[in-house]
Amino acid sequence: MTPIPSMRWPDHLFLIGCGNMAGQMLSRWLDCGLDPARVTVLRPSGRPVADGVTVITDYPSALPAGTTVLLGMKPYQIADVAAALAPLCRADTPIISILAGTTLADLRARFPAARDIVRAMPNLPVGLGEGVTALFTDATTGQTGKADVEALIQPLGLAEWIADESLFNQVTALSGCGPAFLFRFADALARAGEAIGIPADQAARMALATVQGSANMAARASAHAGDSPAILADRVASPGGMTRQGLNVLDADDRLLTLLTDTLAAARDRGEAMARGE
Ligand SMILES: NC(=O)c1ccc[n+]([C@@H]2O[C@H](COP(=O)([O-])OP(=O)(O)OC[C@H]3O[C@@H](n4cnc5c(N)ncnc54)[C@H](OP(=O)(O)O)[C@@H]3O)[C@@H](O)[C@H]2O)c1
Repeated sequence: MTPIPSMRWPDHLFLIGCGNMAGQMLSRWLDCGLDPARVTVLRPSGRPVADGVTVITDYPSALPAGTTVLLGMKPYQIADVAAALAPLCRADTPIISILAGTTLADLRARFPAARDIVRAMPNLPVGLGEGVTALFTDATTGQTGKADVEALIQPLGLAEWIADESLFNQVTALSGCGPAFLFRFADALARAGEAIGIPADQAARMALATVQGSANMAARASAHAGDSPAILADRVASPGGMTRQGLNVLDADDRLLTLLTDTLAAARDRGEAMARGE
């Protein structure tokens, strides 16, 4: 990956936890040119992260000026982390939290000095720069604070501010859980191909390449001509042809739409139940 010269990086980035998700984010930032000397990771294991990145197992006595904090540990660890970290945070210490289910009000209560606090919900393709990150903050976070966070998130893929924090479980159901749903679709497409007679290994390769090529094509068509996937589907399906016949099956009684609505609703409901501690 060629570094993005126009990128505006924080003077210093302090990651609390660097597992599956924060690790993907950091890996992309480093690929895009973030100087590893500007990064400190706190993780209990002390496992190295990447060349040049400082890894610590305990909190420093102070944060370097211009530090942005990324909370990337598990949500249930917030009380312990905040007890140690909050005294180090100043008004001008931006905090980005990827903790699922931890509300902005909770974060504000635990980090009372910090002005700019943003909730972020990334999905796993952020590591490729093709992720989706939902962002939420309140009026206390200044416009500059919002712009700085957005600049940091931008190399990870699509960044979407959401206006209503109560929609976090909905957007998590769509884009956070979405990769798994698409993996399932690709697998089902392959298995369906096998079911109608295509050798299994060939069906798997063809299904995956079809999903990848079609997703890229849909992204381009949307960016260049504003054409939605719905329009593309109809364009591919000539009347009386094979594709139309297949689409008729997916479309009958809105069965695919109903299936996916039920899928997202189940994921959303689970998020709400977890937030209630169930
Ligand atoms: N995975 C996803 O798809 C996803 C999507 C969106 C948001 N999130 C959010 O991302 C966060 C992390 O999830 P994950 O899947 O990346 O988990 P993970 O892979 O288990 O990583 C957790 C990280 O937290 C560190 N850690 C453990 N105890 C800690 C402590 N007391 N203080 C500071 N750091 C500590 C771990 O350190 P070691 O490395 O030393 O073990 C590890 O680096 C969660 O809050 C989750 O809600 C995840």
